[in-house]
Amino acid sequence: MAAPIKLFEEAAHASVYLKYRPRLPQKVFERIVEYLKEKKSKPFKLAVDVGCGPGQSTRPLAPHFEKVIGVDVSDAQIEAAVKQTDNPPNVEYRTGQGETIPVPDNSVSLVTCCQAVHWFDYAAFCKDVDRVLLPSGCLAVCAYGNFVPETCEGDLTKDKKMQQLHWNFYKGLMGAYWDDRRRHIDNVYAEFSIPYEGSIRDDSFQLVQEITVPSYIGYISSWSSMRAFLRKNPDSPNPLIGFQERLIEILGAETQTEQTKVRLKAPIVVLLGRKPPP
Ligand SMILES: C[S@@+](CC[C@H](N)C(=O)[O-])C[C@H]1O[C@@H](n2cnc3c(N)ncnc32)[C@H](O)[C@@H]1O
Repeated sequence: MAAPIKLFEEAAHASVYLKYRPRLPQKVFERIVEYLKEKKSKPFKLAVDVGCGPGQSTRPLAPHFEKVIGVDVSDAQIEAAVKQTDNPPNVEYRTGQGETIPVPDNSVSLVTCCQAVHWFDYAAFCKDVDRVLLPSGCLAVCAYGNFVPETCEGDLTKDKKMQQLHWNFYKGLMGAYWDDRRRHIDNVYAEFSIPYEGSIRDDSFQLVQEITVPSYIGYISSWSSMRAFLRKNPDSPNPLIGFQERLIEILGAETQTEQTKVRLKAPIVVLLGRKPPP
């Protein structure tokens, strides 16, 4: 089993991540629970969210399970998760690896992994999921692909320019700083499937967010490539300053940075699989 990749370790990254990272819509979690209910009935004692980060994919599970455990390899992410004030009482966090999930055999109704499995040793993860799942328990792997920005007013000329700016930054300046595993986000998890018979892929969801210009810039600052760029070029001026200037130029003179919103859209994939009965 390969050593875990620790790109999310710094406390500064954990807090930027928490503030600006998008959240999967509640409907995705409802879809996952519906899938579980197809072959398993309540009570659902335990769900485990692996690669939980600061817990944004963990907390939505709380209403459906007696207990939910968020697991992450990064101490900084777990610290950030524990500190959240909206943690329901039945949610707990543990430091641990997806490849050796820190819970007993045959104890879990649902394992989720959102926006994280591309960092894991996937074969070792699936093997350990099989160890911890109860019969007819489910694994749900979710991710969102790349965001495409557009104006909220549907101005196609500005949309095109914004998208050019976004992709030039993503593939140009940031291009050399993405980990090779970023391809899994580019291709929306095309290379992943759950190794249980009858497992499915649901592409019917979309992530749509309208956020202010500073939040859009904040979101880009949470990219792992941005952290890698800043580490390798500590004396370089922050490239997001130029990015924001150009963005405001495109959006127009009437732009009020704090109030003007942009819309971001990304495809979502949900992979669902069920452990067969013995
Ligand atoms: C992009 S974040 C996803 C956070 C959250 N689940 C979400 O929906 O946004 C990926 C997380 O996976 C964690 N991670 C990476 N490799 C891991 C591993 N082998 N085992 C457990 N967690 C891991 C990272 O520390 C990071 O917090």
